[in-house]
Amino acid sequence: MPNTAKTLVLLAHPNLANSRVNAALADVARQEEHVTVHDLYAAYPDFRIDVAREQRLLLAHDAVTLQFPFQWYSTPSLLKLWLDEVLTYGWAFGEGGTALHGKTLRFAISTGHPAEAYGPDGINRFTMAELLRPLEATANLIGMTLAEPLILQGNNPFNPLPDETLALHAKHYRQALAA
Ligand SMILES: Cc1cc2nc3c(=O)[nH]c(=O)nc-3n(C[C@H](O)[C@H](O)[C@H](O)COP(=O)(O)O)c2cc1C
Repeated sequence: MPNTAKTLVLLAHPNLANSRVNAALADVARQEEHVTVHDLYAAYPDFRIDVAREQRLLLAHDAVTLQFPFQWYSTPSLLKLWLDEVLTYGWAFGEGGTALHGKTLRFAISTGHPAEAYGPDGINRFTMAELLRPLEATANLIGMTLAEPLILQGNNPFNPLPDETLALHAKHYRQALAA
């Protein structure tokens, strides 16, 4: 059966012009027929989010992917503001707040530190799964079903990932968006 589910990619990179990983992933996402790539920093350079527009976009899609570089163990600030302002009481959670129930949510995250930096013996002490708990809790509260996160780790200016590693990850990303 052909897949006609629509996916909204909320791309949140504060400096996409200097991005390697997220720029490449956004490019492959844009090639997918049923995927809308919504670049939040391009849409709201002044951080004034059009909440009604964002909620309409969410309603028009079956799945949502939050695509962003990990920044201080969290989302970039505009994506945090987006969560604060768009996921309103009575709409996304609380009494009558069922707008997103049953939709799928995925995180597509890049990190500068490599995988071994995330864990009890690593410089960051905690695993990615532990650090992603607040986002997982958010998905739970708004009734969305979490898909397996897609995480590409270890791209930094001192030690950029090989082109083949990025290309393979981009291929997996495209497959996940198409699935
Ligand atoms: C303000 C800031 C905070 C960052 N915080 C983290 C972090 O907490 N953990 C990490 O592994 N990398 C961190 N990084 C590195 C970015 O995650 C990394 O450069 C990015 O994922 C690479 O993707 P890109 O090529 O699309 O920019 C940070 C970068 C910036 C600019």
